[in-house]
Amino acid sequence: MHRSLVLGCGAYLPERVVTNEELAKTVDTSDEWIVKRTGIRQRHIAADGELTSQLAVNAAQDALTRAGVEASDIDLVIVATSTPDNTFPATATRVQAALGVRQGAAFDVQAVCAGFIYALSVADNMIRLGQATTALVIGAEVFSRILDWEDRGTCILFGDGAGAMVIRGVENGGDNAAPGILSTHIYSDGRYYDMLYVDGGPGSTGTAGFLRMEGKEVFRHAVSRMAEAIETALEHNNLTLPDINWLVPHQANIRIIESIGRRLRLSRDNVVVTVDQQANTSAATIPLALTQAQNDGRLASGDLIALSALGGGFSWGSALLRW
Ligand code: UT7
Repeated sequence: MHRSLVLGCGAYLPERVVTNEELAKTVDTSDEWIVKRTGIRQRHIAADGELTSQLAVNAAQDALTRAGVEASDIDLVIVATSTPDNTFPATATRVQAALGVRQGAAFDVQAVCAGFIYALSVADNMIRLGQATTALVIGAEVFSRILDWEDRGTCILFGDGAGAMVIRGVENGGDNAAPGILSTHIYSDGRYYDMLYVDGGPGSTGTAGFLRMEGKEVFRHAVSRMAEAIETALEHNNLTLPDINWLVPHQANIRIIESIGRRLRLSRDNVVVTVDQQANTSAATIPLALTQAQNDGRLASGDLIALSALGGGFSWGSALLRW
């Protein structure tokens, strides 16, 4: 049976760091409020003219190096993003060309903060079906460009960045102890469209837009849906909560992350947290956090890693990986 093996992860963060103190000079907020309510201390902001595709290429190159894979081996590039360079073509095609990938398919996936889980699910299923052999799955965003800097309830929450993962199909049976992606589960409930959206943007409305959010509603749904998606994944694989070695959740708010950790009965030491340093980079948070854990040597061979995210739509999901 085919399964996707994770060969390596990579990351890229724009050079400019904006601290809460710096933000408080132009936004009616304070470091104290932001840290207490969100856990965020700073975020990276892309330079003028620095595009999502460039962030994605940098993260992809890092992932390819980590994985020891050549661009010529890649036959699928998926970019999860809500901030594509242009309305079309897909940002992934630009990334494909810049990396020198000359075969297979390249396309974007749009599921906002759940985008990386969605993209991973599509890539994993294409590999399982034999439609692709080696995939680059990327989450890349410049949310700083769609923020209303006059809305203190949202502009303090987000940052820019990109993370990438290289996965390859292997024959290693259906054993849940063998390395690779054990499963992915994805869901949407469009009745919540208005809870988190951009009020315009490229597309059928024909207007520029900014991110709008009902923070409390998103918070409530994030905790229950992300935890549920992991519980479903465990059950699907005949595993239980104590089997989880690492939770790598979407990084939106430390209070959301801690609530999920408590519900899953995980120690704080088993939860990978980057929200303090990077804020919410939407589709990029999970591959950025995984890359950090990979690079600092926390992840051991055989560890069970649970990924989960929720974003606009609402769209949410989970993935279970055996490292
Ligand atoms: O990736 C998925 C997308 N996003 C999320 O998952 C975010 C989910 N939601 C959240 O993280 C939280 O709801 C927020 C951090 C956005 C807000 O926290 P909250 O505890 O729900 O605060 P609130 O919106 O109820 O605001 C409480 C107070 C209000 O003042 P009053 O009405 O009590 O006087 C706000 O005006 O805090 C005020 N406030 C601020 N004060 C200083 C809101 N934003 C700020 C701010 N600085 N930046």
